[in-house]
Amino acid sequence: MSKVTGISAGAFETIIYEKHDGTAYITLNRPKQLNAYNVRMRDELHEVLTAIRDDPEVLVTIMKGAGDKAFCAGADLTEFLTAPPPVFARRARFARDVWGLFLSIDKPFICAMHGYVLGSGIEMAVCCDIRLASEDARFGMPETGLGIIPAAGGTQTVPRTTGMTAALEMLLTGRWLSAQEALRIRLINRIVPRVELFPAAEALAAKIKSLDPLAVRYVKQAVRCGLDLPLAEGLVLEARLARMLKKS
Ligand code: COA
Repeated sequence: MSKVTGISAGAFETIIYEKHDGTAYITLNRPKQLNAYNVRMRDELHEVLTAIRDDPEVLVTIMKGAGDKAFCAGADLTEFLTAPPPVFARRARFARDVWGLFLSIDKPFICAMHGYVLGSGIEMAVCCDIRLASEDARFGMPETGLGIIPAAGGTQTVPRTTGMTAALEMLLTGRWLSAQEALRIRLINRIVPRVELFPAAEALAAKIKSLDPLAVRYVKQAVRCGLDLPLAEGLVLEARLARMLKKS
């Protein structure tokens, strides 16, 4: 792996950030806590995503979880139980809108998931563009069972990924899904054997890197931004990006 520019790579506690040959690698790295998402991880993810956005050498990113058991088991429940009052939490969220930043980056993200993928694990995954899962992956949105609602965009991003019908069942019942069910509702693109998960993500990254980087970024922009627009405006956006690409 090459030296990471722009950020102090050794400084991270909850994430490993690496970069090699145009691919950035984000590894959620709290394996003893099943990579549960805590405030520190939020801050470090914010720093890493900013670096990915601003680093011209990064063409594509692979996101994965450390350890054998989980991509991410959701929000850190120990912090959740001692969380500040909602008004402070909301202020903190706006001060560091990691999800807005994630969704605004027009470089592709590939998510490679294994084991438990719960709550914010799913919310991170749906911020990515292509989602691979190993056969052992289990998906769930347990928030309502804890008396909360998803706070990392899940009520908006999950239905935009799977459609409302499947999303509402997941969100309202908290029922866990196997990898096969996740594939059926289009939460993921593909299931691969566990040993092939990372190689499959690498192969996708290699394919994307072989394409015109600007065309790739404009396609992502057109799709991601266009889906939030009425069709006529989406078509205008597409035409504008096509003209910009021709001129470049
Ligand atoms: N936050 C903080 N710690 C977590 C965690 C979370 N969301 N999920 C797991 N952990 C910790 C456990 O407390 C345990 O720590 P310990 O070894 O110090 O006791 C360790 O990770 C391993 O988890 P464990 O429960 O022993 O593994 P398991 O295989 O028996 O069960 C789960 C796995 C995912 C079913 C179970 O850990 C669980 O239900 N976690 C909570 C999931 C959740 O509700 N997330 C919040 C979504 S909003």
